[in-house]
Amino acid sequence: MSEGRATADWALVTGACSGIGLAIAHQLAARGHPLVVVSHRAQALEEAARALAAQHQVQVEPLCVDLARESAAAELIAHVERLGIEPMVVVNNAGVFFFGEVADADPAKVAGLLQLHVVTPSLLSRHFARAMRARRRGHLLFVSSISAWNDFPGIALYGASKRYLKSFGLALRAELAVWGVNVTVVAPGATATGLYESTVVDVQKARRFGVMAGPEFVARAAVQAMFAGRALSVPGVTAKLFAWAMWLAPRWAIVRLRRWAPWLPRP
Ligand SMILES: NC(=O)c1ccc[n+]([C@@H]2O[C@H](COP(=O)([O-])OP(=O)(O)OC[C@H]3O[C@@H](n4cnc5c(N)ncnc54)[C@H](OP(=O)(O)O)[C@@H]3O)[C@@H](O)[C@H]2O)c1
Repeated sequence: MSEGRATADWALVTGACSGIGLAIAHQLAARGHPLVVVSHRAQALEEAARALAAQHQVQVEPLCVDLARESAAAELIAHVERLGIEPMVVVNNAGVFFFGEVADADPAKVAGLLQLHVVTPSLLSRHFARAMRARRRGHLLFVSSISAWNDFPGIALYGASKRYLKSFGLALRAELAVWGVNVTVVAPGATATGLYESTVVDVQKARRFGVMAGPEFVARAAVQAMFAGRALSVPGVTAKLFAWAMWLAPRWAIVRLRRWAPWLPRP
């Protein structure tokens, strides 16, 4: 379970063209890891790959795959095999976010979110964990969220999928630890990225008031926790306080929140 330039293990990061994923890719490249970076906006991905390679002097392979498709994991695995790469660090980070009642959600968006957050990371982990187990080393990192600490209206699909990632990651950790493979779950609080672009959240204002962390801060904490072999990381004091508050929130408060929530329709 080593890290750094001496080993130069390949690392694969999903959702690496922006936000937390891009910042994690920078952290790994700065430690000397050559990278497979994956997302589905080709131009943004190419630009991110070029910038990572130039800044850190490591090999970077961009793979443009829509991870919300049913065939995504098989496609990505085939690409990686064709390149002859066996990543020993795999970061399941790609994600989307939307507010709203489940009853109003576009079925294609529902299927896409579940595929992206649940099915694809599970299949990728199943595949890459086998190689790591055979070599008795490696790291899997899952990007969950503090929303996994309770069950919230308006983000039912997002929160439940992040709870799945947390639970799956921690169970997988227990399976793989005896083989010398590490699994870490990072649960960021609100982070200033493009994730909220199509929502009511004012990212600039939240950042100014210190409610949101920067993606670089979250990425640094996540990568440090992973290489330290920690099970779970909630980066920053604010996120830890929010996670506690969410965990302690009684059901009646959540029901009341539903009544006040400006982002949900009134009966
Ligand atoms: N921001 C927060 O407050 C926060 C808090 C807790 C957890 N998280 C989690 O952190 C992770 C990263 O989000 P972020 O905040 O960094 O937002 P972001 O900047 O929007 O990054 C999301 C990444 O996922 C990729 N992605 C989305 N759909 C994809 C698809 N169908 N196929 C391939 N790649 C796809 C995006 O690539 P394209 O642009 O190419 O689609 C992008 O690189 C997510 O899992 C999110 O749930 C975020």
